[in-house]
Amino acid sequence: MSSQRLQEARAYEMRADREICPEERPVFHLTPRIGWMNDPNGFSYYGGQYHLFYQYHPYSTVWGPMHWGHAVSKDLLHWTYLPAALAPDTDADMDGCFSGSAVTLADGRHALIYTGVVNEVTLQDGCKRGRQTQCLAIGDGVDYAKSDRNPLLDSAALPVGISRYDFRDPKVWQEADGTYRMLCAARTEDGADTMYLLFRGRDVEHWDYERMFLRNSELEQPIGRMYECPDLFALDGQYVLLASSQDMTADGEYAAGNGTFCMIGSYDMATGTFVPTFHQNVDYGIDFYAEQSVLAPDGRRIMLGWMQNWDTIQHRPDNCKWYGQMSVPRELSIRNGRLYQWPIRELEAMRRNPVSYQGATIGGSATCDAADAGMHGGSDALIEPITELDGIRGRVADLEIEIAAATQQEPFERFTIGLAVDDTHHTDVIYLPEESLLIVDRRHSGVRRALANVSSARVSPQGETRAIRLRIILDRYSAEIFVGDGEQVLSTTFYTEQTADRITFSARGMAQFHIVKYDLAGSLQGMR
Ligand code: FRU
Repeated sequence: MSSQRLQEARAYEMRADREICPEERPVFHLTPRIGWMNDPNGFSYYGGQYHLFYQYHPYSTVWGPMHWGHAVSKDLLHWTYLPAALAPDTDADMDGCFSGSAVTLADGRHALIYTGVVNEVTLQDGCKRGRQTQCLAIGDGVDYAKSDRNPLLDSAALPVGISRYDFRDPKVWQEADGTYRMLCAARTEDGADTMYLLFRGRDVEHWDYERMFLRNSELEQPIGRMYECPDLFALDGQYVLLASSQDMTADGEYAAGNGTFCMIGSYDMATGTFVPTFHQNVDYGIDFYAEQSVLAPDGRRIMLGWMQNWDTIQHRPDNCKWYGQMSVPRELSIRNGRLYQWPIRELEAMRRNPVSYQGATIGGSATCDAADAGMHGGSDALIEPITELDGIRGRVADLEIEIAAATQQEPFERFTIGLAVDDTHHTDVIYLPEESLLIVDRRHSGVRRALANVSSARVSPQGETRAIRLRIILDRYSAEIFVGDGEQVLSTTFYTEQTADRITFSARGMAQFHIVKYDLAGSLQGMR
């Protein structure tokens, strides 16, 4: 039996989402059915399709009492909304159903394990502090019943000194021996240290504390102040811990603020020990957080994240009816000791109308046979000739671009790709070959807030010509830039009017580039 609060949410979303026409949404990135979305939750393959739940506040486009929204897909690109799965409606979660994960039980039912929040304290500034506990709901892929035994894990299970207000985001999986493990994010009461804790379950209802899985203060270089949203899985013979953290400081690898990281290492199930040997940023762009992964039936490990960031949520269009979206799903692999990400191959089936230019040169005296479109650039930009190419434009597109110096003797200093361009707006992807830097800069996209609008990744140019390959996925309000074979990714959102659909190229020095551009077409998000 669903509660009144859940029934209200379901009735509301069914009425309200009719106000959003498909053209107002991205084509293949999942957005909330109505209202607000943050983290992906319960990402799983169940009953012959992928299920993706999400942190959801249907009643407004700002964060509020958290529900779980729900959508399903066969290919992770065409989504069908299902009714909201969870509402905050029991003694264990009346102020929010926070992030969590999903597993399929031996009897075929689908189990959601999430954080229940109940506000206990109001701070001087009016902010509420919620007690956080781990809860369970079991269902059939549409309707979920919360366990009478909730909360299954509360502060009584925590080691001494760990805060009951920062204990969340359970990632549950089943081990080969049939027992379960749960990783949760936690923090000390004094706020000085953060960690992931490991719990052991003989089933999904009975849990015991096992050990400290990863402790920030024990890292050579601590990362941030509050871990969130863990995920752990085997990949290419090693183990990967995906993680997010609040309050990071910039240090070359990570940018300041909320960000994501991953650790590659070994994990021993018998002792619950994880030994990381390498860590890196997961997404060097502006908007990416709280990633989760799923194991596809064909063995691929596929990840996506909330393509937004707590530090940038004031960047929003006026009067939006939805806010927040997921990144494109990405296939993961470990190569050269790093995590590589590549847009899921299903996206290639959506490619239409290829337009290609091989060996276009630009910069100095441009010899490209394309029309010169004049000049643009911010106040700090030097004047560079800007080129557009016939047939290369659009806001829903898949671009493959190779950039290199036109000749080995003559280095180039900079290559800029302008996205979502009109006479006043542009979001730039800037390659600085000498510095081995790739920058995404949305300051001129129409953004009205001076928040993080520029970010960068260190890249590995090839050979004397400092060649680099990029794949850029555009979907109306975003760009995701994959470098090389996916060794770095930079994601950014922007809300420039859709009429700004020009794509421009400019260079300081003589550069040569090859480009293939596809439109990406697909039937739009459906409703049930
Ligand atoms: C991460 C997060 C989680 C929490 C959820 C609340 O973005 O803060 O730690 O469960 O969002 O919506």
